[in-house]
Amino acid sequence: MSADKPTILVTGGAGYIGSHAVLALKNAGYGVVILDNLAYGHQDIVEQALQVEFIVGDTSDRTLLDNLFATHKIDAVMHFSAYAYVGESVTDPAKYYRNNVIGTITLLEAMLAADVKKFVFSSTCATYGVPQKIPLTEDHPQNPINPYGATKLMVERILSDFDAAYDFKSVCFRYFNAAGADPNGLLGEDHNPETHLIPLVLFAALGKRDSIAIFGTDYDTPDGTCIRDYIHVNDLASAHILGLEYLLNGGKSDFFNLGNGGGFSVKEVIETARQVTGKEIKAVECDRRPGDPPALVGSSEKAIKTLGWSPEYPDIKNIISHAWQWHQKRHNS
Ligand code: UFG
Repeated sequence: MSADKPTILVTGGAGYIGSHAVLALKNAGYGVVILDNLAYGHQDIVEQALQVEFIVGDTSDRTLLDNLFATHKIDAVMHFSAYAYVGESVTDPAKYYRNNVIGTITLLEAMLAADVKKFVFSSTCATYGVPQKIPLTEDHPQNPINPYGATKLMVERILSDFDAAYDFKSVCFRYFNAAGADPNGLLGEDHNPETHLIPLVLFAALGKRDSIAIFGTDYDTPDGTCIRDYIHVNDLASAHILGLEYLLNGGKSDFFNLGNGGGFSVKEVIETARQVTGKEIKAVECDRRPGDPPALVGSSEKAIKTLGWSPEYPDIKNIISHAWQWHQKRHNS
C-alpha cells in the first residue's frame, strides 16, 4: 500500500467492473481496501490477480462498516456492489431495493459518521428508460422502466440531497454496456448466471452452449436487431480514476455518461465474434426479450471535456478479443 497516495474503499471489488477498477487504482499507486460479500464476486480473482486487503462483508452491516472506517484511513469510496439483473429486479424488486438502496444508505451514513465525503457511484443508462433521442445526453429525462434502474436513480437523488445537506461530494457514472476484459488476461467477466450478449456469444464459440439466441429481429434498426453502446471495462476503470481525482481535487458533485458514442447491433456483435474467434457460432432468431429498447447509445462528451477521459479501446473487435482471451483462459483451464 502506498504511503503518500490516498486509500480507497472499493465495494464490490471482487466483481466484474469493480475488480478492473481495483487493478487500475493499484497500478496508479492508490491504497485499496475491498469490501465484497461474495454474493456474485470471486475470491480467487482477488487473491490471484489483485492481492489487496479484502474484507468479506456487506454494505448493509453498519457495525462492520463502523469498524472498517475506524481501523482504516479511507479517503474516498468507490461503490460498485449492487444487484444488476434487470429481469430479476422485475420479479424480485424487494431484493433490489433492499440491497441497492438500503445497503447504499447504510454505507453513506457510515461514511458521514467517519467524515469520509467523497464517493464514486456506479449508475447506469437504465436510469433513462426508453430513449426519446439518440445519443442520450445527461440531461435526458430519467424515467427508468425497471426496478434495477429505479434503484440506481434513487441513489443518484440521495447523493444530490446529501451534497446539499452534508457537503457530501459524488460522481455518478451512467454506464452503457460494459464489456471486454483486462487486456493482459488477469481479469474478466464471470457472472453466474450469465445473461449478457458478448459472454454468451463467446460461450457458444467455446462449445459451452450450442448457439446464441437473437432476441428480436423486427426492431426499427438497420438489420432489425437491437443496438447497444459497448464500452470496454478498462475504459470504465480509467474513468473512475479520473472521477476520483476530480473529487480529491475539490470537484463539485456531477454525473457523466460512459459509452463510446456509437452502437453495434446484436447481429454485428455475433459477426465480429465469428471473426475474432474463427468459430462458426450458430445464431437462432427468437422473439423479443421484454423491456429491451431498440437502441441505446450514449454521448460521453461531458466526461471527455470535464474529466479528460479518452477511451483507449473503442473498437468492438478489441472489446470482443479481450473478452475471448479471458473466457478461453477461465473456462479451459
Ligand atoms: N441479447 C440477445 N441474446 C442474448 C442476450 C442478449 O439477443 O442471449 C441482446 C439483448 O436483447 C440486447 C443486447 O443483446 O438487445 C444486449 O443485451 P445484454 O443483456 O448484454 O445487455 P442489456 O443491454 O440488456 O443490459 C445492459 C446492462 C444492464 C443495464 C442495461 C441498461 O447489462 O445492467 O444495459 O439498458 F441495466
